[in-house]
Amino acid sequence: MNEQQRKEQAQIKQGLSVDKKSSQDIPLSEKTTEDFAHYFQTTYEPPDIKKARKRGRDKVEVHYDFEVSDKMQQIGKGKKFLIRTYGCQMNEHDTEVMAGILTEMGYEATLEAQDADIILLNTCAIRENAENKVFGEIGHLKPLKLEKPDLIIGVCGCMSQQESVVNKILQKHQQVDLIFGTHNIHRLPNLIEEAMFSKAQVVEVWSKEGDIIENLPKVRHGKIKAWVNIMYGCDKFCTYCIVPMTRGKERSRRPEDIVQEVRHLAAQGYQEVTLLGQNVNAYGKDFDDLDYQFGDLLEDVSKIDIPRVRFTTSHPRDFDDKLIEILAKGGNLLDHIHLPVQSGSSHILRKMNRKYTREDYLELVRKIKNAIPNVTLTTDIIVGFPNETEEQFEETMTLMEEVGFESAYTFIYSPRDGTPAAAQQDDIPDDVKKERLHRLNALVNQQSAESMKYYEGKVVKVLVEGESKKDDTVLAGYTEKNKVVNFKGPRSIIGSIVDVKVTDAKTWSLNGELVKKTVGVNG
Ligand code: 5AD
Ligand code: SF4
Repeated sequence: MNEQQRKEQAQIKQGLSVDKKSSQDIPLSEKTTEDFAHYFQTTYEPPDIKKARKRGRDKVEVHYDFEVSDKMQQIGKGKKFLIRTYGCQMNEHDTEVMAGILTEMGYEATLEAQDADIILLNTCAIRENAENKVFGEIGHLKPLKLEKPDLIIGVCGCMSQQESVVNKILQKHQQVDLIFGTHNIHRLPNLIEEAMFSKAQVVEVWSKEGDIIENLPKVRHGKIKAWVNIMYGCDKFCTYCIVPMTRGKERSRRPEDIVQEVRHLAAQGYQEVTLLGQNVNAYGKDFDDLDYQFGDLLEDVSKIDIPRVRFTTSHPRDFDDKLIEILAKGGNLLDHIHLPVQSGSSHILRKMNRKYTREDYLELVRKIKNAIPNVTLTTDIIVGFPNETEEQFEETMTLMEEVGFESAYTFIYSPRDGTPAAAQQDDIPDDVKKERLHRLNALVNQQSAESMKYYEGKVVKVLVEGESKKDDTVLAGYTEKNKVVNFKGPRSIIGSIVDVKVTDAKTWSLNGELVKKTVGVNG
């Protein structure tokens, strides 16, 4: 949806807010999904894979004119906000944007729910347990809302893009004042105003992907590392995944806006940026006026004077030779690639619609290792995809070893409403899936421990991020390959990159000693 369409729909939306008083004619507990359907007629369609796949190339507009009105800049004065974030880096970064907007509205941040005047739950829909956590939290907030009726409780992020979730909140969780989607973040000031003054339960969720809003304010978490969105949405439609529905179609930010943001961060003294997208390798494929892809962007970002550049997440299908060539040049482009494989079985990969085979993946790994011999590869794996056989699971185990992943995020498949895989019958019992996850995790731990052992006695470069959570006399930071290192040193080096000699390796972290002089080996 573009801004023009939004304005047109805004007039209809007025009538869409639930007025808690006037809706008393039918008790909420007796209302059915149809009673809530009107929320979605113009603004929302439930996930529909067929429709989504036919996404048009409607022009995405880029807006540079976001502003918080003078009136809204006063509205949060003397008040506090709390945002709880669930899920991926994309959500973490959206939270930074919402914190930026709320700060412009005069609100101050708090970590205490008791002190907050507005609490937002920025939710994740990727697996069922992520959703359960949020519903648990919504329940916990009910007594606080009863105690403080003016408290505004909002639910946003990926869960609010799902009609079933919105219905459940409307029916069962009247303590929630505000529900808005991933495409509606820039509308936060208006939505809060509406929630405050109309005393209505406000719902604004667009199913059609939004435009790109460039100049949103951000309150970044820390001054050392920063996330930079390079694109939004995903068009890959892996059959298990809800993201193409919750985040909309792929839309790339203009290169000049990204480069300018990274330059600005470098000038502010940030040491590391992570370029963010659900599928960063598809960057630029949606430009119709520009032949400029992810490799080109990395090349341009590599010229900026910032010590470390990472990116996440890659899709093996779009990982082309040009990209490998540019990564191989090194510089500030770090040689750690997170490359989700999801399964080692070509049969399962086909059912997942990943568009590559086990052999394709191994060939890509071979090319990457040839070009970047010291590369570190990590991955995501799903076990227990519907009807995955023991042999197919074993193929994942052997692939894990063959590639030599240094770590992996592992998940049991979780059916998501509206995705093709969720419609499949599944013969594999839960305890078999759990047992497979257990076996896989044992292998992941073993490979991680082995990769850590390699560093014993070596010197690594560590970006010092702060004191260790467990012991404030110990500093902690990350190597170029994203390994945590704990070591003693003065607080004055927080925020800089220092050499640390590794003394001993644990499964998931390294211990070391600060060294004054640089001695080779990349970390
Ligand atoms: N069930 C389990 N894991 C999933 N992921 C995505 N969708 C699902 C699902 N339905 C995992 C994938 C992805 C990571 C972010 O989450 O491994 O790479
Ligand atoms: Fe989901 Fe990633 Fe597949 Fe996109 S590429 S559908 S975000 S798993």
